[in-house]
Amino acid sequence: MTEELAHTRIEVTGESAYPIIIGRSVLGELPRLVGERAKNILIIHSGSVAAYAESMRTQLQSHYDQVLVAEVPDAEAAKRVEVAAFCWQVLGQADFTRTDAIIGLGGGAVTDLAGFVAATWLRGVTLVQVPTTVLAMVDASVGGKTGINTAEGKNLVGSFYAPSGVLIDLDFAASLPENEVRAGLAEVVKCGFIADTDILGIIESHLEDALDTGSGTFAELVTRAVRVKAHIVSADFKEAGQREFLNYGHTLGHAIEHAERYQWRHGAAISIGMVFAAELGRLTGSLSDEDVARHRRILSSLGLPVSYPQGRWPGLLATMQRDKKARAGMLRFVVLDAIGKPSILAGTDDSMLFLAYQELSSPSES
Ligand code: GLY
Repeated sequence: MTEELAHTRIEVTGESAYPIIIGRSVLGELPRLVGERAKNILIIHSGSVAAYAESMRTQLQSHYDQVLVAEVPDAEAAKRVEVAAFCWQVLGQADFTRTDAIIGLGGGAVTDLAGFVAATWLRGVTLVQVPTTVLAMVDASVGGKTGINTAEGKNLVGSFYAPSGVLIDLDFAASLPENEVRAGLAEVVKCGFIADTDILGIIESHLEDALDTGSGTFAELVTRAVRVKAHIVSADFKEAGQREFLNYGHTLGHAIEHAERYQWRHGAAISIGMVFAAELGRLTGSLSDEDVARHRRILSSLGLPVSYPQGRWPGLLATMQRDKKARAGMLRFVVLDAIGKPSILAGTDDSMLFLAYQELSSPSES
C-alpha cells in the first residue's frame, strides 16, 4: 500500500502550472524550484522554524549572491499589512529585482503572507512555498491563494498567485505537536470525503500509522490529499467552479473559528463543519445514517471534535449570514450526493439548517 516517497512529483497544470515535490529530506531540491535567474533570495519564516530558516540560508548561500531571512510572527499575527510592509522594506533595502525570489517557510499563515508579498513586490516575483505544518502541506501552500487579513475580516486582501514550486518535506512534521498533526489531518479527511475515498479506508484500517508522521501511511495520506487539491486547482485556479468543493465543512467551520476568536485550530472547526454538512446531506436524502456515522467515527478516531454547544446556533447562523453578504452570495454549503461526490446546496431554509445543527449539538457549554 505504501508509496515509496524518495521523491513524489505532482504537477499542477492549467493556467498556473508548477510542480509539487513531496518526500523526506528533499530540501536539496530547492535551488531547482527557485530556478537559475534569481540572484537574491528572501526566506520569510515564522519564529517557530527559525532554526530551519538558518540552515536553509546556509545551504542556499553557495547558489545565490545574497540569501536573507525575515522572521515574522507565528500564525494569524503574520497576516497583517504591517508585517507585509516589513517584508517589502527588507526587499527594497536589499534591492530585490523582478528576477529574484521569495521562499515561504512555515505554516499556512506564513505561506499566505509570503505569497502575498511575492505577488505584490514589483508586481510579482518567483515564489517557492516550503510548508512546515500538515495543514499547510495539504492545503494552504498548494493552490496559489495568498492574502492577509484586515480588521474587517480574514483574507480580505490578497490575490491568486501561483508559486514556481511547492516543496513538501515530510520530515518537518516530526517536530509538530500531536494536536497540530490531528488538526491537519482534518483537511486530509476532507479530501477523502470529496474525492479520494481510499483516504478514508486507509485511516480506518491504519489509524496508528496515519498519526505517525514518520510512517509510509502518513506520507501516502499527505500525497493523496495533495493530489486531490492539485487536480482541483489545475481545473479551476480562480474558484469559478469545482474549487469550491474544497470548502467542504468550511461554511460552518469558519463561523466556529470566528466564535472561538480564532483560538481553535482550523482543522478542529472544519471537523464539526463536515459533520454538519453530512447531517445536511442526510436531511436532503443523499447520505445514509451509516455515511454520517462514518464521518463521526473517522473524525473522532483522529481526536477531532464532532459536536458543538446547542445554544451557539443563533450566533453561528448570524456569522454565516454576514460572511455570505460580504461575499455577495447566498448561504452555500458543500454537501455530498454520495461519499466522494460533492455538490453545492444553496438557499437552504433556516429550519433545515437548524435541524442539521440539532443533530450535532451538545446540550450545554462544555
Ligand atoms: N483552502 C481551499 C482552497 O484553497 O481553495
